[in-house]
Amino acid sequence: MKVMVLPSAADAEHHVAALFAKQLRRKPDSVLGLATGGTPVGVYRALAAAHRAGAADFARARTFNLDEYAGLPETHPQSYAAYMKAHLFDLVNLSPARTHLPDGEAANAEDACRFYDALYRYYGPADLQLLGIGLNGHIGFNEPGFAPAPGGTHVVRLDESTRRANARFFGEGEQVPEYALTMSAGRILQARSIVLLATGAAKATIVVRALEGPIGTDCPASLLQLHPDATFVLDIEAAGKLEPETAAGPPLERG
Ligand code: GLP
Repeated sequence: MKVMVLPSAADAEHHVAALFAKQLRRKPDSVLGLATGGTPVGVYRALAAAHRAGAADFARARTFNLDEYAGLPETHPQSYAAYMKAHLFDLVNLSPARTHLPDGEAANAEDACRFYDALYRYYGPADLQLLGIGLNGHIGFNEPGFAPAPGGTHVVRLDESTRRANARFFGEGEQVPEYALTMSAGRILQARSIVLLATGAAKATIVVRALEGPIGTDCPASLLQLHPDATFVLDIEAAGKLEPETAAGPPLERG
């Protein structure tokens, strides 16, 4: 596992955006795995700026998002479909036909999961997958202690702690959905290259667990230790509780 520590959240976001722009230049028809949440907003802002500057062409790219809330129409501002449009899709040259998210408002969520997984198996795996990390170590919406999902994308019940953490994005009196559709941890690990971005002191404890703790489903992000090309990109605060030798990473990977 590679670890890269950068001085500020903005530096970390720019570094990750540059990795995506470079991926697009190296392989214009890349499959990009995308994430939502507060953490990647700055990455998408930097990528949109790179696009305007002519340094990131999405015309032939295809994107797959990790997850979507169950029961939210894509027009709901807190749906991940709306998030992706607002933060990236409407700001770059990505045709909607090449952007994919699980269908959160499908009448039959299981069918929607099967369809999404079939699409991912056809076009994927992702050349480069962006991840955030939940305060409890979740990746996508694979919550601690998740059961194996041989079918790949599946419906999950969200942890109360995740619903509380995400309540900040929802309006007063609005409920965070109880269920979500998520790509499985197994599918996520199929990506050729993975970059997990974590910023801010609130993530410092779970970052230690994921990087220095044992590999186990009680911390889904720890499974990334099994991946041959996974990098944690951290700001100083998120790296604040790591052992110095973990934070240093391999010599060539230092920020
Ligand atoms: C969300 C998403 C994850 C994300 C995580 C952290 O619920 N499903 O993909 O990584 O929680 O979010 P944030 O970046 O807002 O801390």
